[in-house]
Amino acid sequence: MNPAQIADAFTATFGHVPQGLWSAPGRVNLIGEHTDYNEGFVLPFAIDRTATVAIRLRDDSTARLLSSFGDQGVVTVDLDTLSHETMSGWTAYPLGVVWVLRQMGVTIGGFDMFLHSTVPSGAGLSSSAAIECAVATAFNELASAGLSANELVLVGQRAENEVVGAPTGILDQSASLLSTDGHAVFLDCRTQASQLVPLDLAAAGLLILVVDTKVTHAHATGGYAARRASCELGAEVLGVAALRDVTAADLGEAAGLLDPETFRRVRHIVTENQRVLDTVAVLDDAGPGSIGGLLTASHASMRDDFEISCPELDLAVDTALANDALGARMTGGGFGGSAIALIPATSEAALRTAVLAAFADAGFGTPDIFAVSPAPGARRIA
Ligand code: GLA
Repeated sequence: MNPAQIADAFTATFGHVPQGLWSAPGRVNLIGEHTDYNEGFVLPFAIDRTATVAIRLRDDSTARLLSSFGDQGVVTVDLDTLSHETMSGWTAYPLGVVWVLRQMGVTIGGFDMFLHSTVPSGAGLSSSAAIECAVATAFNELASAGLSANELVLVGQRAENEVVGAPTGILDQSASLLSTDGHAVFLDCRTQASQLVPLDLAAAGLLILVVDTKVTHAHATGGYAARRASCELGAEVLGVAALRDVTAADLGEAAGLLDPETFRRVRHIVTENQRVLDTVAVLDDAGPGSIGGLLTASHASMRDDFEISCPELDLAVDTALANDALGARMTGGGFGGSAIALIPATSEAALRTAVLAAFADAGFGTPDIFAVSPAPGARRIA
């Protein structure tokens, strides 16, 4: 659906025109996985797949919500009786953000909302953060809340943590809110200081191909929380505030203090933080054609030390590397979702064919394969 169609769907449903349309993107994380909640570094970029909300404020306390993908029809709630414990389904994302803003003292009364998204859900591309950030951006303006982008990041994270129940960090919302066209966002998750890093893949004759394995993950219930707990245990035993404070030089000593599994988890975070810093330096010195080895090393670390990959992701990465990719890695929380491959633009068709054949040979489901490039962040579009 294009913006005009989204506005039309809103009008047909609610009987009046929307006050505006706000849009926020999903993301690919170029490198820096599970480092965010360890107060470390990440380097994501927004992709041109977005969640868009059309909204009109009402003069009562009723919220009516409809999406182009939900199967519940129009969901009607009274905001004055809204509890963060009772929200479920897709409406937990927009209503979660509204709940957090109201908890913060932002005045938000009733509203009508239509939501459409082109970010595939469960693909590790932050479909939930895209919804949260579109809604947060919209109400920041509609309620004249005056929150900064970094404050909106924390609103989205709090909705995810307290309403949806996933103990995630600030990577996804930061990518969605801080990105600009043609750049990746280099973010220090301890201070929220960020820097835009030029990422002109086309000029280097490159592109990034996403392989969505269609293997779904469930962060609220899956291994994500267990990985986070291991990291917190590691930091506690090592006597640091967060694993951000551990360096490669400390790993020898850490090996003697931690059980083998916790040590591997810690080693991933420590080496991954360094790989983010190295990637930023290499991008600046030599450009995107030289970061492939860092991406592939990141995948090996997630596969072997953090143990969040799966056979489908490994096959996507291995097939890409065997077919001209400069580097490849899984992206996002893991346990399924998507891999990314940095490839010469001229290799796209051959790689597509190779990945489809490899998945078919392995008896895996057909993956979805598409190119992405750094796109703009959350904004009003109409
Ligand atoms: C998910 C979470 C993020 C981050 C990544 C892993 O996308 O939402 O906060 O932890 O996993 O890097």
